Amino acid sequence: MAGSLAHSDRSAAVRRLLDTLAETLRAAAARDASDAAALEDFARRVQAIGTAAPATPAPPERLAVCRVWDDALRAAPGALAGPVAALGPWLSWTQNPNYRRRPPDPTFLDNYGYAVIAGPADGPPALVSAPDVALGVLLLGPGAYYPLHAHPAVEVYVTLTPDGEWWRGDGPWRREPPGAAIYHAPGVPHAMRAGSAPLLALYVWRGDLATYARITSPSSPTRRSSPGRAGARPGGRRARGTRGPAHRRGRRPGRP
Ligand SMILES: [Fe+2]
Repeated sequence: MAGSLAHSDRSAAVRRLLDTLAETLRAAAARDASDAAALEDFARRVQAIGTAAPATPAPPERLAVCRVWDDALRAAPGALAGPVAALGPWLSWTQNPNYRRRPPDPTFLDNYGYAVIAGPADGPPALVSAPDVALGVLLLGPGAYYPLHAHPAVEVYVTLTPDGEWWRGDGPWRREPPGAAIYHAPGVPHAMRAGSAPLLALYVWRGDLATYARITSPSSPTRRSSPGRAGARPGGRRARGTRGPAHRRGRRPGRP
């Protein structure tokens, strides 16, 4: 009985998150003519996700970055914060194996993680099954820098926290308000950095879910430069030998 109640609670919490995210994406599409069609498409796909649990639900897993989960939620003022917070007890946190093998900087793995809310059955543990969409939450610790990376999947991020900064293509750094949708076409390099508070964002992938993101330029000593300042390009000083093939097949569906 307790188990079925817990499952029912979890399904309801996922439904609330999906509905709120779809609504946020539609609102963003109405504001952004250039990416409106892509954002509308993501909104439809998110709305269509069911809340059936996977056959073998995974137990929650925690990472070092989870120490800032409560701080991130306190810094998140928008409509998505409550639905995301409600899922906290069930989230299973993980990391991109490309970064685990070769962290972009020595502190990265203590300040980075993601948890899948909806995704394919053969991917990292998800709360609900979704065969053609991967949706989850990304958390970066204060001051963390996630360097330029790319993947063949189409992606949208929706920010929850206010002081993170985002880079796409040729830049510049942009500070996006909570509820902003950030669209990444396949293969477009992008980066983000947290401010003095954690960075919390939802992501949605469609398309090639089987290829993990790869770093295209490693961390740079200029990364804490103020937005728009000359020389503040992410990865402005690339270490030798750290640029691999643009995309390499992972063994399981990939994520940010
Ligand atoms: Fe990405």
